Amino acid sequence: MNIAVFVSGRGSNLNAIIESEDLKNLISIKAVFSDKSDCPAFEIAKKNSIPTFSIGKTEGSLSSDKLFSKLIELEIDLIVLAGYLKLIPGEIVSKFKHRIINIHPALLPSFGGKGMYGMNVHKAVFEASSKVSGATVHFIDEEYDKGIIIAQKSVDISDVQSAEEIASKVLKIEHEILPFVIKKIAEGKVKVEGSRAVYT
Ligand code: GRF
Repeated sequence: MNIAVFVSGRGSNLNAIIESEDLKNLISIKAVFSDKSDCPAFEIAKKNSIPTFSIGKTEGSLSSDKLFSKLIELEIDLIVLAGYLKLIPGEIVSKFKHRIINIHPALLPSFGGKGMYGMNVHKAVFEASSKVSGATVHFIDEEYDKGIIIAQKSVDISDVQSAEEIASKVLKIEHEILPFVIKKIAEGKVKVEGSRAVYT
């Protein structure tokens, strides 16, 4: 299965996909895309000889139309958003229905939606005095963090002293469940039935 990974920053989830033994013979990462002209995640891609493309209006970046054509040219089967902070153009969302997944660092539908990314999420969870947090992998639709949930894993945070501690616990879970979901999809074991995703 050919995948494209969309990033905006550090790239630890991209790295988890690259390093996943389970995925080695199941997927090919054809390209890494970012709204940034450069970011640490691009360095990880380049180190692994994976082509990188910037998306946007600046010189050398791909416009939305060119992005769509590039995805078709690369014969992408699955788009993985791993820390990508922009909305995916509607044309791509509709053409790649149930073929775009996102990793969110909380247990959706709680602590999701516009502006809820990175440390904003963990600060909100900490301030809410939540006793569990976790990560969610979901399909993408037209709205932020609203798509069908595919996988979640929770972690106890009743004894944490800071939002940073939550971030660290949740990131470990992200690195587990994102490759897990990609594997299941590559094996054809995820089905959408109505408003739910089920494993076959
Ligand atoms: C992760 O926490 C992910 O849940 C969120 O953005 C962060 C990306 O981290 N969507 P990285 O760039 O994969 O390290």
